[in-house]
Amino acid sequence: MAESLVKATLQLPCSVVIISAQAGDKKGAMTAGAMYVSQVPPLIAVSVDNTLATSQLIEQSQEFAINVITDSQLELAKRVGSAHGKDVDKFHEFNITTESASKIGAPLISGCFAHIECRVRSSLLESEGNHTIYIGEVVGFKMKDDLGPLVWLNNRYFTVGAECRI
Ligand SMILES: Cc1cc2nc3c(=O)[nH]c(=O)nc-3n(C[C@H](O)[C@H](O)[C@H](O)COP(=O)(O)O)c2cc1C
Repeated sequence: MAESLVKATLQLPCSVVIISAQAGDKKGAMTAGAMYVSQVPPLIAVSVDNTLATSQLIEQSQEFAINVITDSQLELAKRVGSAHGKDVDKFHEFNITTESASKIGAPLISGCFAHIECRVRSSLLESEGNHTIYIGEVVGFKMKDDLGPLVWLNNRYFTVGAECRI
């Protein structure tokens, strides 16, 4: 694949989140992007590599939490996004403090800008690639107004800048 075409996929600024999921007593977390799909009903999409440990947990539970991280959690996002749940218990290894979700079984990561609890409403297996797009219906939500989210662009991380006013 031409490098310039791969680069095209990195030019869309997107949120940096940690997806957490739990099935039975197994819990997992991975770093990802997330995309708004619809306001009514409230739907959010994530794209998850089918080979990942978190993928299995989402498949089994049909639920996931989107932990919208802040700049102080950037190191955590990098670690969670490079270690594999099949090899390590990331919650233990990275000292991740969690709290209970209100509507789903997945653990919420403390200290985030927002917690969005989702139940899988539909999923699309991309047959050419190896990802499944999960469209989650938001069933629980809380946020901290005094914190801000992170943005991922061209493999770099940014805080949200000044608001544009017309
Ligand atoms: C900034 C960032 C964004 C990422 N976005 C995705 C994504 O959208 N989908 C995906 O499948 N993996 C994504 N990853 C890679 C996974 O987080 C990584 O493979 C992780 O180790 C999977 O963990 P698991 O095997 O425990 O589920 C991203 C990693 C980083 C650092």
